[in-house]
Amino acid sequence: KRIVVLISGSGSNLQAIIDACKAEKIDGDVVGVISNIADVFGLTRAENAGIANEVLSHKEFASREIYDQNLIKCIDAYQPDLVVLAGFMRILTPQFVQHYVGRLLNIHPSLLPKYQGLNTHQRAIDAGDKTHGVSVHFVTEELDGGPVILQAKVPIFDGDEASDLAARVHEQEHRIYPLVVNWFCQNRLTMSGNCAILDGKPL
Ligand code: GRF
Repeated sequence: KRIVVLISGSGSNLQAIIDACKAEKIDGDVVGVISNIADVFGLTRAENAGIANEVLSHKEFASREIYDQNLIKCIDAYQPDLVVLAGFMRILTPQFVQHYVGRLLNIHPSLLPKYQGLNTHQRAIDAGDKTHGVSVHFVTEELDGGPVILQAKVPIFDGDEASDLAARVHEQEHRIYPLVVNWFCQNRLTMSGNCAILDGKPL
């Protein structure tokens, strides 16, 4: 399967997916990486792995709609089977989401439906939670609201700073995102209505 990854930053999840493809733990290849921000480390990771990569800056387009239309063109030039959001810090238009419905994945650093949006680690600490985590989900028009495929939990310890917790969550991100991408690549994972289906069973 052909995978395109969208990033805005360091790309550690991108790296985990690249490594898993190389190790044949994912039945597919990352064929392109697109960032909306120039000079991020994720682009260097793509370059180092010999993967086509480009910047499509949102600043060069008059509206979100026009940016997303151009992003679709850019992505579709790679003819992907799957589009993976890995720290892509943009809200997507309904038109974009509809274009890739059922083949668009995101990773969100919380146990959804808890803590949609930003600053999830600090919010979990401030709320006095004892457990936090990460979710991989299909993307729908509702922000951080599509069907959850897989979650991993981590403990929150007394005295944790947001950065401690983020590091603990990241380890789990790098474990579960390649797993889910592989399920998709092996045709085991689909979306039906607002439900994720794995091996024929609703999750
Ligand atoms: C991750 O925490 C992910 O859950 C969130 O953005 C971050 C991206 O990190 N959506 P990286 O760029 O993959 O290192």
